[in-house]
Amino acid sequence: MVDKPRVVLGVSGGIAAYKACELLRRFTESGHDVRVVPTASALRFVGAATFSALSGNPVATDVWDSVHEVPHVRIGQHADLVVVAPATVDMLAKAAHGLADDLLTNTLLTARCPVVFAPAMHTEMWEHPATQENVATLRRRGAVVVEPAVGRLTGVDTGKGRLPDPGEIFEVCRRVLARGVQEPDLRGRHVVVSAGGTREPLDPVRFLGNRSSGKQGYALARTAAARGARVTLIEANTHLPDPAGVDVVRAGTAVQLREAVLKAAADADAVVMAAAVADFRPAAYATGKIKKKDGKEPEPIVLVRNPDILAEVSAERARAGQVIVGFAAETDDVLANGRAKLARKGCDLLVVNEVGERKTFGSEENEAVVLGADGSENPVPHGPKEALADIVWDLVVDRLG
Ligand code: CTP
Repeated sequence: MVDKPRVVLGVSGGIAAYKACELLRRFTESGHDVRVVPTASALRFVGAATFSALSGNPVATDVWDSVHEVPHVRIGQHADLVVVAPATVDMLAKAAHGLADDLLTNTLLTARCPVVFAPAMHTEMWEHPATQENVATLRRRGAVVVEPAVGRLTGVDTGKGRLPDPGEIFEVCRRVLARGVQEPDLRGRHVVVSAGGTREPLDPVRFLGNRSSGKQGYALARTAAARGARVTLIEANTHLPDPAGVDVVRAGTAVQLREAVLKAAADADAVVMAAAVADFRPAAYATGKIKKKDGKEPEPIVLVRNPDILAEVSAERARAGQVIVGFAAETDDVLANGRAKLARKGCDLLVVNEVGERKTFGSEENEAVVLGADGSENPVPHGPKEALADIVWDLVVDRLG
């Protein structure tokens, strides 16, 4: 990889083109050399001067500009990453069919580096079989096409089709760049990741919860999307922004999380249980707030066992060859407890980390040992949660065969 990674930011003509400016700023501020290649329609939304000023590079839209430099060939050949954001329905169709009627489409055909598309369009257009087939074609060829976000669209309508948050698109690109020209090895795979911590309600205002931030699960979802997977992220009480290109399902309690995981696992190639699931829940839920009574001690809270989701998905294996990964947070005898837990849960891999007052929860970094049911042991040194996530996916890919 070169010192200053060369990024081509393709912008096609949709209202979300203005968000490309924010993405562009993220790239330039973090030391990337960005060449913006808008389509002619994109320039109806954002002027070339804006892209040129923010990137510090010339901006051209068609192959007849600066012909002596042959930019329609060079720009693609020299890029370390091409990202098209927003990618309109028309751009996806052109890219899928190899059309080349402007500088961006020419660049896509000459690029030999990883390519990321961040589509944005109305829900009906996204769901149209023509678009879905084009997306499938691009993914089959190795491009990373992030799923659009769900939310407010151009008019009063809402649905799937929004451009994901530019910060999240940037994260996908950063991961793809870090991996270089490697194949998106989770392409065509559906992976399910649970994240966060469940809350078990006692009464309308109180719950039993835990300190899981959800960051490790989100890192797993993000890295899987960057490696080409279709990702279902089932989150419990995280309050983190939705990662780009990931289908997010919300669950609050262990029982709700179980339902969501079992549903998503039905056609999944891998299930990673990074969520901290409460082992117990209050036996009774008080529909009114529990009040203190003068001169009386509180009633004890009676707890009952929650279902063990990891053990259940491991035992059932909704699909042959499905790979199941669990997490274990241990305070003592970390490895011995981890081995015993791996056997008890019946999963293929168990990521064991040591937790304590200041360790792991809420932090950006992690340190772990990944134990395999085959007896393997992979220590992961202290580092970003995304580095651990990538090692987990490497081990999953090995087992998917
Ligand atoms: N887990 C689960 N369902 C539960 C509890 C935990 O699926 N009801 C999953 C977690 O998502 C995690 C793994 O099991 O992947 C380990 O959870 P942990 O709470 O450490 O395991 P326990 O079986 O509760 O072991 P211990 O009581 O020894 O902590």
